[in-house]
Amino acid sequence: MKTIDIIDKIENTHIASKPEFAYLLQYITDEELEILRKKAQKTSLEHFGNKIYIRGLIEFSSVCKNDCYYCGLRRSNKNAVRYRLSKEQILSCCNTGYKLGFRTFVLQGGEDAYYTDDVMCDIVKSIKSDYPDCAVTLSLGERSKESFKKLFYAGADRYLLRHETSDERHYGRLHPEEMSLENRKQCLFNLKDIGFQTGAGFMVGSPYQTYETLAEDLLFINELKPQMCGIGPFIPHKDTKFKNEKKGSVRLCLTLLSIIRLMQPDILLPATTALGTADSKGREKGILYGANVVMPNLSPVAHRADYSLYDNKICTGDEAAECIKCMSGRIKSIGYEIVTDRGDYKIRKKDDKNVQI
Ligand code: SAM
Ligand code: SF4
Ligand code: FES
Repeated sequence: MKTIDIIDKIENTHIASKPEFAYLLQYITDEELEILRKKAQKTSLEHFGNKIYIRGLIEFSSVCKNDCYYCGLRRSNKNAVRYRLSKEQILSCCNTGYKLGFRTFVLQGGEDAYYTDDVMCDIVKSIKSDYPDCAVTLSLGERSKESFKKLFYAGADRYLLRHETSDERHYGRLHPEEMSLENRKQCLFNLKDIGFQTGAGFMVGSPYQTYETLAEDLLFINELKPQMCGIGPFIPHKDTKFKNEKKGSVRLCLTLLSIIRLMQPDILLPATTALGTADSKGREKGILYGANVVMPNLSPVAHRADYSLYDNKICTGDEAAECIKCMSGRIKSIGYEIVTDRGDYKIRKKDDKNVQI
């Protein structure tokens, strides 16, 4: 099969086989990529118009019990500066964000035992009570189904948990033995089952990744059908064992964004900070390749640099107001605009009215 036929197949049936995905990723030419990009952009415009959803990212803890080999926050990184934000500090970030037009707050952190279910539920309830018109997204790593349920009933709306890679062997080369792909996937199915708008995702260009493992990632996305999918290039961190590895390809990342847009036309797809770090116009390109979400940073500037997942992370010295101004300008420059909206996942019913979940 020719690459162009595979693109048509994905557009028309929203899926391809593993060999077809792998072949397309490996052999797509620049001309074909432009065809794919246009189809993805058209699909995104049909669903979301030229409106880009913004999420305010609050990186509330740099403490992590895990030891993922790629991440600067891994527990064995003795050079990492560890901090925790109090509930008051988190609420203050929300206050700043609300005034700047944010209606979704994303609380992201390492797997930090300090934030027990009780502590986290109290934080979520306080945000929802102070800002009832806002959505709360959590990204706190793996927890039990009971814990996820408590967070959901406390009012959290969405949960981001990238599966990182869908290939068992590859997963084993990125994580220590005590972590398992099986548990990661089970967490994702549990989150969906509970009713969270759920986000999966993966890094592009992580060490030992192949076109086949990426094809496997696409098949997993098709199986899970998450409401969100976060992908960004792998970027090495100087204090990890992958410090000398190459960073992921921006072109491949953009190709995957377009494929995912065609696979799930209504999916919420961020143009990630890692994409903006790997390429100074990465987030703008992400939107032109089908992304419809950006996540500017609302964390206190004093701690920004300490949430160091990878080297040279952008937006570490900028106040939230500067970041959103910069982001608005970037988005305007490509003919899009930011919306003040919760930006929920919408399912299309037969009568084609949007129904929020
Ligand atoms: N601890 C939670 C978890 O792992 O799900 C949430 C925070 S974690 C830092 C968020 C994401 O950062 C991970 O899912 C991973 O894909 C990404 N990340 C970590 N290290 C990275 C690196 N070196 N390059 C690019 N992305 C990275
Ligand atoms: Fe911890 Fe998440 Fe980093 Fe893994 S990716 S070390 S779980 S913060
Ligand atoms: Fe953060 Fe440009 S988007 S400074």
